[in-house]
Amino acid sequence: MHGNAPADTKRSLMTYPVTAVIGGSGLTQLCDLQITEQDVVNTPYGEPSGPLLSGKLGDQNIAFLARHGHGHSIAPHKVNYRANIWALKEKGIRTIIAVGAVGTINTEFADGSLVIPDQLIDYTHSRSHTFFDGESNSLKHVDFTHPYTPKLRQVLIDCAAENAINVHDQATYAVTQGPRLETAAEIQKYKRDGADLVGMTSMPEAALAREAGMHYVLIALVVNAAAGLQSNPISIEQVMQTLEQNKSKVIELISYSLSRINQLEAIS
Ligand code: HPA
Repeated sequence: MHGNAPADTKRSLMTYPVTAVIGGSGLTQLCDLQITEQDVVNTPYGEPSGPLLSGKLGDQNIAFLARHGHGHSIAPHKVNYRANIWALKEKGIRTIIAVGAVGTINTEFADGSLVIPDQLIDYTHSRSHTFFDGESNSLKHVDFTHPYTPKLRQVLIDCAAENAINVHDQATYAVTQGPRLETAAEIQKYKRDGADLVGMTSMPEAALAREAGMHYVLIALVVNAAAGLQSNPISIEQVMQTLEQNKSKVIELISYSLSRINQLEAIS
């Protein structure tokens, strides 16, 4: 990390949460979060997407950052991913639950379903995607074989099963540049590559979390069939409606999993 990298000692604020949610489209706030603190964190990479909110969800501590800003005005390729991850690390966060709306390439995943992907393919470009660029920090190569922390995925999958929330527990997420949606041919290419889902935000977010030594998992909410896989063009109104109708399941899953996630100390 950076020369004046936030060390783990920054967690001397013992009551500050160790788990944060990064909310995506349609999840610009955690509706049941009792906010006790709001921090504007300065980072060597500029401003994060917004203030970092923290407080209680039920009896559990949690922090929340809206990836696209509170007015949902920051496009996926303009999100300052480095500042966001840095700010969370600086505040002592160890575990990130990312939430993202996705299109589905896999026809077994219905609109409104939740998916906990285990793999991703990065098709993004021109995004500031590393802390270890050999400039402010020395060059370093991190292992990224499993981009989503396996033990954290398992906690979400177990908690979903225990609470009768349906989740698909395996999927490969194709991360595209956006903000436009894809062509039908692009989706066929991603399908041939082995992708099940398509979205715009899990990279470089997941890789930066790994570089920062944090645990990272994604709850993907399917909001449409990917381009060319339905007879009509993708309707943004329909997408927003599916988001609205299903986001409570995401919040429920987070609420049910949080105590176990907060207890996880030694996850790999
Ligand atoms: N493509 C890319 N990103 C998305 C989609 C999609 O179809 N739906 C929601 N996010």
